[in-house]
Amino acid sequence: MEILLANKAGFCYGVKRAIDLALTTAREKEGNIYTLGPLIHNPQVVQDLAGQGIKEITGLAEAAGGSVIIRSHGVGPDIIQQARDKGLEILDATCPFVARAQRVAREMAEQGIPVYILGDPGHPEVQGILGWTMGKGIVVENADELSRVDHPKVGVVAQTTQPLANYQRLVEALQKQGVEVDARNTICHATGERQRAALELAKEVDVMMVVGGKNSANTKKLAKICQETGTPTYHVESAQELREEWFRGHKKFGLTAGASTPDAIIEEVKRRMKELDQMTNGEEGMNEAMEVKAPQSGELVKGIVVQ
Ligand code: F3S
Repeated sequence: MEILLANKAGFCYGVKRAIDLALTTAREKEGNIYTLGPLIHNPQVVQDLAGQGIKEITGLAEAAGGSVIIRSHGVGPDIIQQARDKGLEILDATCPFVARAQRVAREMAEQGIPVYILGDPGHPEVQGILGWTMGKGIVVENADELSRVDHPKVGVVAQTTQPLANYQRLVEALQKQGVEVDARNTICHATGERQRAALELAKEVDVMMVVGGKNSANTKKLAKICQETGTPTYHVESAQELREEWFRGHKKFGLTAGASTPDAIIEEVKRRMKELDQMTNGEEGMNEAMEVKAPQSGELVKGIVVQ
C-alpha cells in the first residue's frame, strides 16, 4: 500500500489565525466569548473550542455581553453595527483574503456599478461580501446564471474558494456582452494551491481520500475536483467513516484535506487507512512498501462518501 499526501493540504493561514485568536481569547479574557456560527467548518474543532468556553451562537440576540469573534468568513457591516449597538467587544478574525474581497466589493459599489459576486449564495462569506455592496451586489454561481447586463461597466469579485476556471468563464461571458469589466481575482492562493495539488494527486492514484467537514465548502470542492478526474473519491470527516471495501484491490491512495482540517484528524485517517488496508488486502498489503509524501504544510481531517 502506498499513501501519498497532497503537497498542500489542511489548515490554511486564515483558519489557523482564527483558531489562534479564539484560543488566546479563551485564555486571556473574562466573561462570555461567542462566535457567530461555527468558528470554522469542522465539527471536531468547534467541539474542542466549546470545551474551552467559546460558545457558538446563531445570532447576536443570543449574546448577553462579552466578546464576539467574527469568523474567518467575515460578516457584513450591519452585523458589526449590531454588535457595537449591543456593547459587545468585536474580535475580528476575518481572513485578510476575505477582507480584501469585501474591500474591493465596497469600492466598486461606491463607484455605483453593479458588483457580480461569484460564489455560493448561501455561504456566509458571500453573504458578508454582499453586505458591503450597499445593494449593488448580484450573486451568481457560474456564467450560466448571467442575464443581459444593462450597465456599461460592472465589477466582479469571487468567493475566495472559487475554482479559477469558474471565475475566468464569468469574466469572459461578461466581456462578450460588450460591457467594461473591472474583474478582481479575489480567490485565495491557499485554495488554488490545495486544488491544484489535489488534482495532480488524483490523477496519479487508484483512490482519493478527501478529509474535512461535511459543511466545509472548500473540502467539498476538493472532493469534486478529484472525482472529476474519474478516480474513485471519498470525502470523510473522520477515520470512523472509512470503509473496508474502499481498499479492496487497490494499492495507491491519495490523501488531501480541506483548509479547516486539523493535522490530528489527518493523521488519524492515515493510521486507519493503513489498518483497513491490512485487514482487506492482508499479507500482500502489509508487504508493500509504505511511502508517505510529507505535505509542505497543513494536515488532514474527516469524511463523506462522494462516490
Ligand atoms: Fe483565508 Fe484562504 Fe483560508 S481565504 S480562510 S486563507 S482558504
